[in-house]
Amino acid sequence: MKVLVTGGAGYIGSHTCVELLAAGHEVVVIDNLCNSKEMALQRVRQISGRPLAFVHADLRDAAALAALFREYAFDAVIHFAGLKAVGESVQVPLDYYHNNFIGSLTLCRVMLAAGLRTLVFSSSATVYGDPAALPIREDFPLSATNPYGRTKLFVEEMLRDLQRADDGWNIALLRYFNPAGAHSSGRIGEDPNGVPNNLMPFITQVAIGKQPELLVFGDDYDTPDGTGVRDYIHVVDLAQGHLAALERLMANPGLVTYNLGTGRGYSVLELIHAFERTCERSVPYRVVARRSGDIGLCYADPGLAHAELGWRARFDIEDMVRDSWRWQTCNPDGYT
Ligand code: NAD
Ligand code: UD1
Repeated sequence: MKVLVTGGAGYIGSHTCVELLAAGHEVVVIDNLCNSKEMALQRVRQISGRPLAFVHADLRDAAALAALFREYAFDAVIHFAGLKAVGESVQVPLDYYHNNFIGSLTLCRVMLAAGLRTLVFSSSATVYGDPAALPIREDFPLSATNPYGRTKLFVEEMLRDLQRADDGWNIALLRYFNPAGAHSSGRIGEDPNGVPNNLMPFITQVAIGKQPELLVFGDDYDTPDGTGVRDYIHVVDLAQGHLAALERLMANPGLVTYNLGTGRGYSVLELIHAFERTCERSVPYRVVARRSGDIGLCYADPGLAHAELGWRARFDIEDMVRDSWRWQTCNPDGYT
């Protein structure tokens, strides 16, 4: 297949490119590099030993996108491009609506004009808000508590409307739980800008001495040790979930929605201890107040993805901490 990957230079996109190339697909990436480096794509080529075409452009540039569709006869699009920092989305909501919503809308318009209606979209477990029950199933009520989450919800709604209006569209909405880990080569991984917001990159930066200590946001949740529980999923498992979804779309299912998680939750303290055990490094931490907007427990029921895609996560928490640590130690300053 010839696959267009939007945001392919980013964390999840670059790992997905490796899996696509390994499976023999042809890959073209469009990325404006607002949160990534072109070096990630050079490393994808090195890991794969295969070519990959890169177009440095913004998804909202309809003319550039249309030119790309004239140049290549794509079979499918995997759409990662977007902004993803929850706190920032509260500060600059218009940037988030413009990038995430208008970017997705522009992409759909250009796809339609080019006669391509096969799309995999990066959604998030954030669309479940504070879930009423656990594990979380795809048919649970949807809500959002911040502008980032609302952009994901709005794009999901737009894609459902689009598919209802024209059943020629085959769309997979993939709701990721908490991506972690890195490629086993240590060549590609998560390269956050500035101080990381997410737990795993913060832990590795504390362990390597770039941050003095980890602040644990609350130990008074209704969880076994009081700290927040999340469903961490290895980024390579996540990447392979996209290939499984693409295969499913080739059978013309219409619109499908899958949780991509492991089904197993780990608390903040469990993750710290798994890291310390596996990587033999200590992670100084201090418990502070809850982070505003956080929820206590979040983990997936990944059963539907297993039943319909034949996909399930293979890597465990030790793999995730080991691979995140390898990436951090091999690239202490990320791609720079
Ligand atoms: P990332 O920031 O590493 O990758 C996103 C890529 O999109 C970057 O390379 C960025 O430069 C590019 N981009 C952003 N806006 C663009 C635009 N207008 N035009 C062209 N390129 C643009 O993020 P990631 O962690 O790889 O996430 C990928 C997708 O998955 C995002 O849509 C994100 O919201 C979603 N997601 C991520 C997580 C997570 O924890 N990482 C969880 C759930 C969902
Ligand atoms: C965050 C986003 C969510 C997004 C998800 C994946 C918020 C409020 N939510 O979720 O929208 O879909 O990332 O990108 O930002 N923690 C600490 N100390 C830290 C960092 C985190 O204790 O320095 C705790 C958190 O309170 C949480 C857990 O670690 O219990 C995981 O946090 P994080 O990695 O930020 O992911 P989420 O909060 O699940």
